[in-house]
Amino acid sequence: MSGLRKFGLALFAAAGFMVAGAAVNAQPTNVGPDACKDCHSPEYKVWEGTPHAESYKEVHKTDLADKVTEALGERSMKRSDTCGQCHYTQAPKKPGGREGNNFGPSCESCHGPGSEFIEIHNVYGPKGTKKADESDAHKNERFQKARDAGMRWPRWRQDIPAMPADINFDVAANCFNCHGMARESLDGDTAGKMLDAGHPLKASFELVQYSQGQVRHRFYNSASNNEEMSEAEKSRWFVTGQAASLVQANNAMSKTDHAKYVGVQQERAEKAKAALKATGLPEAEALIADPSEANARALVAKIYSEQMDLTGQVGSMLPAPSTYK
Ligand code: HEC
Ligand code: HEC
Ligand code: HEC
Ligand code: HEC
Repeated sequence: MSGLRKFGLALFAAAGFMVAGAAVNAQPTNVGPDACKDCHSPEYKVWEGTPHAESYKEVHKTDLADKVTEALGERSMKRSDTCGQCHYTQAPKKPGGREGNNFGPSCESCHGPGSEFIEIHNVYGPKGTKKADESDAHKNERFQKARDAGMRWPRWRQDIPAMPADINFDVAANCFNCHGMARESLDGDTAGKMLDAGHPLKASFELVQYSQGQVRHRFYNSASNNEEMSEAEKSRWFVTGQAASLVQANNAMSKTDHAKYVGVQQERAEKAKAALKATGLPEAEALIADPSEANARALVAKIYSEQMDLTGQVGSMLPAPSTYK
């Protein structure tokens, strides 16, 4: 079992799904992007135009989709749970309906299944409490409960004292479950058959390049301003992506002996090590020597808690904005 999975389980086990003071036994499930739309319309509008949303209409119709589906002895991509893990949000189409592959990758694919956190993450205190009046104790509790209920918070926030400075690792590492085919629930034999049938697996996925183009949604200060990252922010996010890439590639490698699968993971790990080495940080050296999740988190915590600007070290490795996906 990988460190990532272990971490998640430990978190859930310790918390026992504590929601509003009472233990909730329900496993969090997806509620679908429409449940987020009313409160997060700027983010929803961005998502709607991305390949994540749009592929839903097209990808199953391609020849490649047929080939890969057949290679696994399955009949329909849209009905396949194997494909569903990465290509679809397995959620009801309408609230209360039957769960199925009803959307492309969406909010919950990145931020975690919403059924349990949706009514926790945005409540500032007893009914009527405004954001500005929320106590630190309540912020801490809200953050932790939402996380225990399955939410992946997207960024380190200094206004929430209990939020650990390694939090950005969560959302970054999750991209590689799909884009690196590193997902725990995908076994090596299945991954090998998919690749043999022509399914893509690229070593080129890099976090800044893939998150700062059409996928970018950063409406932190205003619903009309999708802010670009500063260069210093990009440098921290780049290093976070490399740390996540190394840990995920290293975990994935042992899944199978399949030459292409292992080769891509190795290429990814080598690239990540070179980028990490360039930071010159002792935490990066420790991670290169032992690519554990704990070491990656220590590095991420270091660069965020000290708000480091690593452009001098890794600036030349950052992708040019014209190449953003
Ligand atoms: C009833 C309104 C409402 C709904 C529905 C809602 N949210 Fe939120 N969400 C908020 C508010 C308000 C905040 C800001 C909370 C804060 O100040 O920390 C927030 C914050 C967030 C954040 C963290 C942003 C940050 O800056 O740290 C994420 C991620 C998020 N929501 C995702 C979702 C997803 C995914 C869904 C659907 C499953 C969803 N939300 C549904 C109101 C909502
Ligand atoms: C572990 C995650 C994962 C699983 C499982 C998975 N895919 Fe994919 N698939 C991806 C990702 C990520 C991409 C995009 C790769 C890229 O281009 O960077 C992709 C791309 C594709 C493409 C090419 C799409 C295009 O627009 O070029 C097809 C076709 C496809 N997958 C079919 C399938 C089918 C059929 C299944 C089930 C048998 C499946 N995939 C299962 C992650 C996955
Ligand atoms: C649940 C699985 C999943 C997760 C998690 C995921 N993606 Fe994807 N992503 C996909 C699939 C599948 C495609 C390919 C869609 C297609 O072309 O059919 C894709 C396509 C993309 C594309 C378009 C690529 C291109 O060549 O046009 C970008 C950009 C992207 N993802 C960025 C990200 C980033 C950044 C993250 C993490 C913050 C992420 N994705 C997390 C499944 C996922
Ligand atoms: C491909 C992965 C991915 C998908 C899909 C995705 N997000 Fe995010 N989201 C992120 C990442 C990464 C960040 C952090 C961005 C940053 O700070 O640079 C983020 C940030 C946010 C934030 C805080 C920034 C802001 O705009 O206020 C909210 C709220 C949010 N997401 C909600 C959503 C909702 C709602 C959806 C679906 C409509 C969604 N996200 C879809 C990855 C994703």
